[in-house]
Amino acid sequence: MPHPFDTLIDTYLDNHIGIDACFLSKSLSDGLQQNILQLQKEDKMSAAGIGNNDVKDAAQKMRGDSIYWMDKKHDNIFEQEFLSQMEDFIGHLNDTCYTGINSYEFHYAVYEEGSSYKRHRDQFKTDNNRKFSLINYLNDDWLEEDGGQLLVYQNGTTQSIQPNAQKAVFFKSDEMEHEVIKANRRRMSVSGWLKRI
Ligand code: OGA
Ligand code: MN
Repeated sequence: MPHPFDTLIDTYLDNHIGIDACFLSKSLSDGLQQNILQLQKEDKMSAAGIGNNDVKDAAQKMRGDSIYWMDKKHDNIFEQEFLSQMEDFIGHLNDTCYTGINSYEFHYAVYEEGSSYKRHRDQFKTDNNRKFSLINYLNDDWLEEDGGQLLVYQNGTTQSIQPNAQKAVFFKSDEMEHEVIKANRRRMSVSGWLKRI
């Protein structure tokens, strides 16, 4: 029996970059997208930092997105459904790949037109808890000319990934360098990390 998480895990095992074009259901992707628009209206999204020792100005040159952290305690059906799917994914990953993940964190992210995130890795120098990065895109009808592609660098090759709604990308946080090129329209996602603490 194929499992709903097989595509993401099998592509990860084959190529070190897992991609599933339909990881989230359309209704969940739509619901999370609406949450971001609502959070923006309520002025709850804030400029993202760059981790430990983050200095605001330096962070802003590095990345232009605004974020809001998810929390199971938030009384929101789509956020609950999303986090419960992530917990199922972690359970399946631990069962099939012996990854020993015991914690996670996810945030909404919005890149307004003109924003980007320079080339980086997701693991902090002083904290190696983040084992895997998992990014979920929420953008309907994204076109090449909309920019905002995720570029992932691996052994001298560059893979360019369109941030289309329902798509997930999965890779090891310590090894994969990546960047988000300038978005020419508002770009929405939920990014997160599977951790061993
Ligand atoms: C990040 C990140 C990539 C993307 O949040 O660390 O690299 O495609 N996001 O949104
Ligand atoms: Mn990153």
